[in-house]
Amino acid sequence: MKLDEVQKAAQEQFAKQSHRYGRGHILENVDDVRAALEKICLPSKARILDVATGGGHTGLFFASLGHDVTLADIAQPMLERAAHTAAERGLKIETRQHAAEQLPYPDGMFDLVTSRVAPHHFSSPPDFIRETARVLKSGGYFLLIDGSVADDEPEAEAWLHAVEKFRDPSHHRFLTPRAWTGLCEANHLKVLSIEMFPFKQPDLDWYFETAATSPENRRKVLELVANAPESARRLFRLGDEDGKIIWWWQRLTLIAQKSS
Ligand SMILES: C[S@@+](CC[C@H](N)C(=O)[O-])C[C@H]1O[C@@H](n2cnc3c(N)ncnc32)[C@H](O)[C@@H]1O
Repeated sequence: MKLDEVQKAAQEQFAKQSHRYGRGHILENVDDVRAALEKICLPSKARILDVATGGGHTGLFFASLGHDVTLADIAQPMLERAAHTAAERGLKIETRQHAAEQLPYPDGMFDLVTSRVAPHHFSSPPDFIRETARVLKSGGYFLLIDGSVADDEPEAEAWLHAVEKFRDPSHHRFLTPRAWTGLCEANHLKVLSIEMFPFKQPDLDWYFETAATSPENRRKVLELVANAPESARRLFRLGDEDGKIIWWWQRLTLIAQKSS
């Protein structure tokens, strides 16, 4: 697997931090995926690819419904942990190590491709979307859930980008709803639904620990928080609760369907 610098950074970061993404991680709660599924009409045994599966929470949810699921990730330790969780839960899944930007599957193979809270690490969202469209069957669905920033908020976006880069240098970029829609529509993926849900970050220290942020970078993030522009304070509802710094991510859920 030949990787670019962004992909290598993500692979290294998540291989090192894989133990943080299993049981007890906030991503274990898949209510967002369950809600999205209500808008998707899948066959009773669908073929599903979960790209950048991390602890496997999304893919394992679909496996628990009886679907035929492949969990894919760039970091092998993540896949090993996800496979272990699957075995503990008595779920049968397949794992494949590869990047999101180049999918090693034939055209038209899947009924659904999912990717949750990961595409902001991808080096090339256009390649990811092009590949997703290619491996979907006609009429197949794409479910994207990821951090985002509302359209036309460049100052707040730049602030969040700086925070995320210091916290976890493998962060690449949050895309706006308009940018994701444009990429989908350029690749024959018709956007059926796109919504932003605010999602509360438990507290900044937890968030630092999850990414093993260096002490120097923690200081830089704290400076950014102290000097956050009004646009960022408003958009992310930046605040203090019981002495803890919290904010609300803007999380996007996009459902698209490949044209028949
Ligand atoms: C926060 S975790 C994903 C969470 C998971 N999807 C869930 O629903 O719980 C992010 C994952 O993205 C993976 N990743 C980052 N960049 C990637 C890339 N370019 N290709 C494939 N996987 C990638 C990381 O290895 C990591 O496991």
